[in-house]
Amino acid sequence: MHEPNRAIRGHIVTLTGDPFVAAEDEVLVEHTDGLILIENGTIAAVGPYADLAASVPDGVPVDHYPHAIISAGFVDTHIHYVQTGIIAAFGAQLIDWLNEYTFVEEQRFADKVHASMVAKIFFDQLLANGTTTALTFCAVYPDSVDAFFEEATRRNMLMAGGKVMMDRNAPSGLLDTAQTGYDDSKALIERWHGTGRNLYAVTPRFAPTSTEAELEAAAALRREHPGVLMHTHVSENLGEIAWVKSLFPDRAGYLDVYDHAGLLGPGAVLAHGVHLTAAERMRCVETGTAVSHCPTSNLFLGSGLFHIHQAKNPKSNLTVGLGTDIGAGTSFSLLATMNEAYKVAQLTQYPLDAIKMFYLATLGGAQALGVQDRIGSIEVGKAADLVVLDTRATDLLAFRSSQVDSLEEQLFVLSVMGDDRTVQATYIAGEIAHTRDR
Ligand code: GUN
Ligand code: ZN
Repeated sequence: MHEPNRAIRGHIVTLTGDPFVAAEDEVLVEHTDGLILIENGTIAAVGPYADLAASVPDGVPVDHYPHAIISAGFVDTHIHYVQTGIIAAFGAQLIDWLNEYTFVEEQRFADKVHASMVAKIFFDQLLANGTTTALTFCAVYPDSVDAFFEEATRRNMLMAGGKVMMDRNAPSGLLDTAQTGYDDSKALIERWHGTGRNLYAVTPRFAPTSTEAELEAAAALRREHPGVLMHTHVSENLGEIAWVKSLFPDRAGYLDVYDHAGLLGPGAVLAHGVHLTAAERMRCVETGTAVSHCPTSNLFLGSGLFHIHQAKNPKSNLTVGLGTDIGAGTSFSLLATMNEAYKVAQLTQYPLDAIKMFYLATLGGAQALGVQDRIGSIEVGKAADLVVLDTRATDLLAFRSSQVDSLEEQLFVLSVMGDDRTVQATYIAGEIAHTRDR
């Protein structure tokens, strides 16, 4: 260790492996009075305060949170920043919701001034909710991507995003072509991928709005730029699935449309996957493709229940993270998202415990994005992207937390009762990026 320049003290809790396949006590690391030493934004040491206190150089501040759980920052594996303004749009299921609300709203992002204004609101909301990394849809317009990465860079956040590619079945003002989709995405990859902490994601919206030629262009971009992510939607809604069948009659199913185009593989993240078949889930596992579970959105649009225990079956263990899917999702909070994930699992007869939910919201998300070497847990060498969760954030939460008998129970109470009020502070690369009481 060289010289740490920052230290954070409190009840540290982190998952260092996947509790759906490993015993929870093997992957759960807890220091009830712990210390994180940070050097230039990176975790230099973590352990009991009593062991590490002497390593804090004179004059280095120790941020002490005596009534909080300190976790790795939350990772949101599916969100649309350009839909921040249409959360809570009434009364429609997926295809009608897209036509009535989404495709109208996204056309406003042709205006860079508007895009930059919304990007700022969006990033403020992420940080207020303890989300330190998100895989994000922008709009079809390259300017909307510039606005996104300019804000991400200003805040030094590890963010992934990309220009939506869509060349059919939407208003003409929102369409590109296979060629312009390719050219614009390529220019954006060259401008943004790997600058600062930014990652580019090639982003075909979903099979109904891209021709086969455009899906192939998207796959070519991924082949030509190793390390770039791929982000799309799959099998969210039964009407959507029937539509894909009619648009791609030669394919074996919805997933096969992407598979055939060459879009699956490590770094590919498919949102929803509510209605994937067992064979399709197996194909995702084989190819290293991840799925984003978006419970608030799946309930809000009436899309269906994602069966987490089928996806996270130890014999065929899919990589899964949580997604808010703003604006079909109803909260920026990964705590609120855990709450809904728990209830969805209840309806599938599976008791999804808090250790597994915190894993999905942190390391699971990092694994989905392929950045688990950089973020997702509180371990030496990873970025100090952290969230401080106040167990006494409200009178009711303080009372409930006073009654818990175990860490598991405390985490469960936080996940079911928590929201942005629970987020006392958010750190990006060791620096305070948000405090609730500012
Ligand atoms: N499928 C295609 N586009 C979208 C979108 O914007 N939101 C959701 N939830 N599903 C989609
Ligand atoms: Zn979405």
